[in-house]
Amino acid sequence: MTTQETQVQVPDLVFPTGFVWGAATSAYQIEGAVSEDGRGVSIWDTFVRQPGRVVNGENADVAIDHYHRYREDVETMAGLGLGAYRFSISWPRIQPDGTGPANAKGIDFYSRLVDELLSRGIDPWVTLYHWDLPQALENAGGWPSRDTARRFADYAALVHDALGDRVRNWSTVNEPWCAAFLGYASGEHAPGRREPAQALRAAHHLLLAHGLAVEAMRAQRSDTRIGGCVNLYAISPESEAEADLDAARRIDGLQNRFFLDALLKGAYPADVLEDFGAMADFAQDGDLDVISAPLDMLLINYYSRFTVSGKPGGAASAAAAPTDSGSPWVGSEHVSFVQGGRPVTAMGWEIDDSGLYELLVRLAREYPAVPLVISENGAAFDDVMTGDGTVRDYERRDYIAAHLRTCHAAIEAGVPLEGYFAWSLMDNFEWAWGYGKRFGLVHVDYETQVRVPKESALWYAETIRRGGLSGPAE
Ligand code: FCB
Repeated sequence: MTTQETQVQVPDLVFPTGFVWGAATSAYQIEGAVSEDGRGVSIWDTFVRQPGRVVNGENADVAIDHYHRYREDVETMAGLGLGAYRFSISWPRIQPDGTGPANAKGIDFYSRLVDELLSRGIDPWVTLYHWDLPQALENAGGWPSRDTARRFADYAALVHDALGDRVRNWSTVNEPWCAAFLGYASGEHAPGRREPAQALRAAHHLLLAHGLAVEAMRAQRSDTRIGGCVNLYAISPESEAEADLDAARRIDGLQNRFFLDALLKGAYPADVLEDFGAMADFAQDGDLDVISAPLDMLLINYYSRFTVSGKPGGAASAAAAPTDSGSPWVGSEHVSFVQGGRPVTAMGWEIDDSGLYELLVRLAREYPAVPLVISENGAAFDDVMTGDGTVRDYERRDYIAAHLRTCHAAIEAGVPLEGYFAWSLMDNFEWAWGYGKRFGLVHVDYETQVRVPKESALWYAETIRRGGLSGPAE
């Protein structure tokens, strides 16, 4: 069978009934309409205007115009047979300055989107924060300020109050690691600060914000499901040398255990706090109890594996940042990232579905009793729109297929995995990389805003229809 042919036989890897088949996006990356209907300024609006922050000086003022085209986009989702759609709410649309009552027009947009989804049988999954902090809150200190966590809980309650009657599945902060360490340590993301100790405060306050929001939302109603969302990596030492093993411990600690232990065990890992030295002064009594409020699910974003070394001289991060930036690895800046020899995506990220299996089995073993959902997984490739109007993105299809097979294997091994969301539904604004990196199942022409499902989307639709996929020989 050639790679181009579509399979029609019964899949040999059938997923459990009720498995959630979804795709994900985030507000700033797709919406555009940055000054409409009372939306305030976010840290990303400010950041993209600073020279040298984003490749080619691009911004998301228009992005893919989803704010105006959401009906067409829901239609596309329905055409693919998606069971669920994960999107984020733009905080500055709801509270232009990050405080005070809800802006009715902001709520109305998301309310209409939710209704549109429900009318097409697509389950809305809301993420409350995907990095677009109101600029006014950054001016008041940003995430390193404890007050931002309280502000977030108020905002979460406003949205949950307005949509909780129709949206069952919620998550709080998308990837606190990125928001804290790319935003405040490396400066690769908004607000672009390079202040390592402040980045640790930001990480803690993002977790505290999560916990306070869970508390506020639970006080409103008990029939919604709430999760935290972390980006996890499989980590390998370059060798068994002591320095490399220590590097792996440190990066696993900062990337994975810092967040997992706080959310699911109510304590920061002692070795990681030790790596921070005098900077480990961010938590107050009782914070960890708030942060570790029981969760209905844990949302995991998985893309790749890191291979790390304690020997100096390697790269400071797994894939070079596109713009001038520092190290996000606070307290472990000496660790270097080496190529593990696997094929890479257009981001330079190594493709390794075995890392996802490793993580899922580990989570089920070390953090039992919390259902898991893959809330992001996918890949950027240099897609080509062919003359006949198709995008033959077989590499993306193969990436997703390999990771779905891994999900199936993990479920067979007893991992409580409930769903999978491909990143991303559509091509969009990829942060500091601008529009140059395409992650979509659906191609977007940024000039005309025309959407065309790529081959990966058609394959995913077929997989959803069949409720599974074929084995590796496919
Ligand atoms: C994740 C982000 C998402 C997108 C993908 C590629 O870290 O959550 O917005 O940028 O990476």
